[in-house]
Amino acid sequence: MKLTVANLKGGSGKTTTAVYLANALAASGRTLLIDADPQGSALSWSETAGNFPLPVVAAPVRDLHRRVPQLAEGYAHVVIDTPPGELAITRSAMLASETVLIPIPPSLMDLDRLRPTLEVLAELEGLHEPQVLCLLTRVRRGTRSSRAAREVLLELGLNVLGAEVSLREGYANGFGLALADDLGEYADVLQELKGRVSQP
Ligand SMILES: Nc1ncnc2c1ncn2[C@@H]1O[C@H](COP(=O)(O)OP(=O)(O)OP(=O)(O)O)[C@@H](O)[C@H]1O
Ligand SMILES: [Mg+2]
Repeated sequence: MKLTVANLKGGSGKTTTAVYLANALAASGRTLLIDADPQGSALSWSETAGNFPLPVVAAPVRDLHRRVPQLAEGYAHVVIDTPPGELAITRSAMLASETVLIPIPPSLMDLDRLRPTLEVLAELEGLHEPQVLCLLTRVRRGTRSSRAAREVLLELGLNVLGAEVSLREGYANGFGLALADDLGEYADVLQELKGRVSQP
């Protein structure tokens, strides 16, 4: 699986999603996590953990798509974490992957700020068309917001995973940890993702 986690809006859950999913994927094959964010959050996460179960490399570059084939050699899975607000890097990461996962909290502001990310994908039409899937994250259980967000995303013609990630202290506290035994709802996210990715 070659998966890019992207959303040009800051703080939407990209790094958390990329790190949890990479940890989950590492159980089923050699996995590389590429940190394409100049802020290097995924890299610091792995460095802090010490016993991180997969390699993480920093590559915050605009020609990532040209480098990924070589970087990915020998790996079954590659996950790319992308920065906020860096169009060129995000575009390149999208070009490098078969699947683009957009984590998005179900708030009106986050939905409103989704447009630039969709515009980058639209620009790639004809050149490279990855499978695009949205993941609702930081969902407050028992509120209407996730259902409402789901409707908005569907109206935009986007595919939304059925699995959701709840707003939970545990995810925020995951920073700096190896997550092998504690993947939370990301285990379900990965299972659904695997099913979707295998169907063209
Ligand atoms: N499901 C969750 N529940 C609670 N807190 C969360 C959850 N997911 C992410 N967070 C927290 O929300 C903040 C933003 O998440 P994260 O860093 O993953 O977003 P990001 O999109 O990578 O941000 P940036 O655009 O700055 O790179 C972090 O403090 C993170 O710990
Ligand atoms: Mg990040």
